[in-house]
Amino acid sequence: MDLNDKRREYGFANLDWTDLLASPFDQFSLWMNAAIDAGIQDPTAMVVSTVGAGGEPSARIVLLKEFGPDGFCFYTNFESHKSRDIGINPQVVLHFPWLAMDRQVIVNGTAQRLPSEHSRVYFATRPRESQIAAWVSHHQSEVIPSRGHLDGGYEEVSARFKGSEIPMPDFWGGFVVAPHRFEFWQGGEFRLHDRFRYEQRDDTWQIDRLSP
Ligand SMILES: Cc1cc2nc3c(=O)[nH]c(=O)nc-3n(C[C@H](O)[C@H](O)[C@H](O)COP(=O)(O)O)c2cc1C
Repeated sequence: MDLNDKRREYGFANLDWTDLLASPFDQFSLWMNAAIDAGIQDPTAMVVSTVGAGGEPSARIVLLKEFGPDGFCFYTNFESHKSRDIGINPQVVLHFPWLAMDRQVIVNGTAQRLPSEHSRVYFATRPRESQIAAWVSHHQSEVIPSRGHLDGGYEEVSARFKGSEIPMPDFWGGFVVAPHRFEFWQGGEFRLHDRFRYEQRDDTWQIDRLSP
């Protein structure tokens, strides 16, 4: 399979020192708002990479649900592959591929579980179907026998909680990733991309331009 002609020039914008805000949190908010305003599909989708026992990396998309001074929050099953990895090694990478704007943001940080009260508030806002699905997918990342296993599980959980609110399972909740490094990447003409890295040194964020 020759994919060599699947290439394009990146000409959406340049990124210069004068465009950068001093705080990477403000810079991220600026770019997230721009991605939302530009109508990018799933602007909050991010690839979360983890490394667990044995050092083998793994990656998957999850949705960013909250962002603020404490970091980046996402919700998942605590028995999943990613959660087991984080339990062993809390260092993660978050990657936002905003290709329609020739942009990517890469964040390195440390993940920790959100307090369950915090997760419960979010869980209550989810559509009922998604709440049921969280119960059905109890053993996320494990081998299951069939699709029918899921459909049957959905019926069973729906019947179990009929007429009542669906509680958050104790195997489900959120992680917050406290960042210590950000990279903002803007694709440039002739593959001369603009890359800026923010790194936390003592109490300040140092910014460096990186070679593309
Ligand atoms: C667009 C999109 C959004 C997703 N959002 C989530 C999410 O917010 N939480 C989650 O646990 N899985 C989400 N998934 C599923 C994950 O990619 C993954 O399959 C699942 O979490 C199991 O991952 P693991 O086995 O590596 O732990 C999403 C997948 C896609 C494609």
